[in-house]
Amino acid sequence: MVMSQILKIVRERQSSRVPFDPERSVAKQDLSQVLEAARWAPTAHNMQNFEIIVVDRKELLEKIGNIKSPISEAFIRENYQQLSFSKREFLQKKVGILATMFPPEWRDPTKVDEVVRESKSWLLSETIEGSPLVLVMIYDVRKRAPASDGDFLGIISLGCVMENMWLVTQVLGISFSVMSVFAADLVENELKQLLNIPEHMKIAFSIRLGYPVSTSAKYLRVRRDLGAFVHDNRFGNKWSTSPHMPSSSSRRAASHSKKNNSVDRSRIASF
Ligand SMILES: Cc1cc2nc3c(=O)[nH]c(=O)nc-3n(C[C@H](O)[C@H](O)[C@H](O)COP(=O)(O)O)c2cc1C
Repeated sequence: MVMSQILKIVRERQSSRVPFDPERSVAKQDLSQVLEAARWAPTAHNMQNFEIIVVDRKELLEKIGNIKSPISEAFIRENYQQLSFSKREFLQKKVGILATMFPPEWRDPTKVDEVVRESKSWLLSETIEGSPLVLVMIYDVRKRAPASDGDFLGIISLGCVMENMWLVTQVLGISFSVMSVFAADLVENELKQLLNIPEHMKIAFSIRLGYPVSTSAKYLRVRRDLGAFVHDNRFGNKWSTSPHMPSSSSRRAASHSKKNNSVDRSRIASF
């Protein structure tokens, strides 16, 4: 596969926040490929610290849909701080999410206190939105990547698993949406009982897979320019977006590594 195709898949991978068709299931063969991508994801120390529960039984999905998910005040307030309230603001900021992704009463920045006061629980069915297939990603809290405080590296690894699966669904034409709410305390407790998840395992997030009922709505996606977050050698030295010329020291290092190609590096690990 040529580089431009890979970059196209990376760029076009996106969140699908529309209802899925409950009658259109994901083919077993496709699901196997998504799981295979998870299997080969990089994880810190190759600890493979995850397990995946594939939920596709209708009655189970219905029970999950009936779980109530309270919305925390912290979520509402921090969400407001990060939203853009117009396309113009969004295009300028180049980070975050457009307020139009949320219910109409959430789209007015002056109404944050009102929304906090009146916020009620949502049913998970509103999040699952008809999806015929949900993957629940869990991990063992008793393990950690060696010497990794708070298992920071282990948690990052779960993100690698997510991205691997996401890219494969993009190629397969399957819509994908992350649902962090599955990890919220109250929701997690109910799910652990329902799905028989052992005490020492924690839910990291869930993913719903499927096919939109109607043509998938396109939405505005923004990203920062490279110059806004890449630094050239030292923090604050803006990265030039023109083709990068390696410095003389990196040219020397490249020539050194060419000369040392004959060395068997397969047993050299760097920590
Ligand atoms: C760790 C993680 C958690 C996320 N949680 C949610 C979520 O709970 N609900 C949701 O709609 N999107 C969620 N997303 C999707 C992001 O909002 C989305 O990737 C981001 O807005 C960029 O949009 P794009 O995926 O279309 O490029 C999550 C993404 C990641 C990586």
